[in-house]
Amino acid sequence: MAIRCCSCRSTLLLLLLVSAVPISIIVSLESTTWTSSPNRHHLRYRSLGLVRECAKWDASGGRFLVSNFFGGGLAEVSDVDVGAPAERTLMREPDVAGNVSLGLVVDGGRGRVLVVFSDLFRHRYAAVGAYRLDNFERIFLTRLSGPEDETSFADDVAVDSDGNAYVTDAKRNKIWKVGSGGALSSVIRSPLLERRKEWYHLVGLNGIVYHPNGYLLVVHTDGGDLFRVDTSTEEVTQVDVEGSILGGDGLELLSPTKIVVAAFRPSARLVESSDDWRTATVTGTYSGPLHRVAAAATAKDGKVYVSHLFGGRSHVISEAVFSPLSSAK
Ligand SMILES: *[C@@H]1O[C@H](CO)[C@@H](O)[C@H](O)[C@H]1NC(C)=O
Repeated sequence: MAIRCCSCRSTLLLLLLVSAVPISIIVSLESTTWTSSPNRHHLRYRSLGLVRECAKWDASGGRFLVSNFFGGGLAEVSDVDVGAPAERTLMREPDVAGNVSLGLVVDGGRGRVLVVFSDLFRHRYAAVGAYRLDNFERIFLTRLSGPEDETSFADDVAVDSDGNAYVTDAKRNKIWKVGSGGALSSVIRSPLLERRKEWYHLVGLNGIVYHPNGYLLVVHTDGGDLFRVDTSTEEVTQVDVEGSILGGDGLELLSPTKIVVAAFRPSARLVESSDDWRTATVTGTYSGPLHRVAAAATAKDGKVYVSHLFGGRSHVISEAVFSPLSSAK
């Protein structure tokens, strides 16, 4: 779930943010196409922030949890069945002030949510925090990287069945592993993950999900690669994907054989595997409000919802209905 994170793109982003242009573009585009499709649920919520990076459904609370980017914390959108609810801020992490909040994962079994924090422009700080779902008190805040370390861009997080957290580094293509109590336990690196060195590969390891069979699935945005990382051996293999997942951002595991890959264009792809993710096939695509830039996917009541980076006075979480790809087997 990365915002494009190299310094040139960051500068571009900054320019975009300080101008009123994106808001007016959004307003003019909203009057067309995707909003008018019937039988689909587009949740539009009021928000004061221009960028919202990730939204995940919290079933126990009946709400979407949203990382509020420059807000440096979390917000919630509840009342999801009424028109245009307002976002409510739940938590701001004071100890990482100045960093942005990015990927998040709801660890419902342990009654907590984990959030990634990153230094957007200088890439000199990275952390992951865990918070109680009932009152958003901090359980732990673990620094992953600081000014004395190599630059990094912590991006997204997944949690395994034992409560270990795995955080992707979109800049250095590694994965930090943090134990359930918050201790940094290892850093997973592999030549396979790092092999993309060409100048145009700016956003690396990004969306990550834990598969109940004991491995992580991780997407490399600019390489268009999907990797499978065994959580006990830390062995990395590449999933042989038929079809393109180039630009893949946030992931969601829908079932043991299906994941959703959010992206800029199309907004989401459905990817399926029948051999425990040694090979996979892109079987469907969904195009939502492209100008808002899809960044994350989540599942709610058997449906897929895609959240978007950019908004003005409102943000959109749209239901993804996939069109089958004719080339899919
Ligand atoms: C991120 O948080 C750390 C820890 O508090 C702080 O030292 C650093 O200055 C923050 N980064 C930015 C860009 O403000």
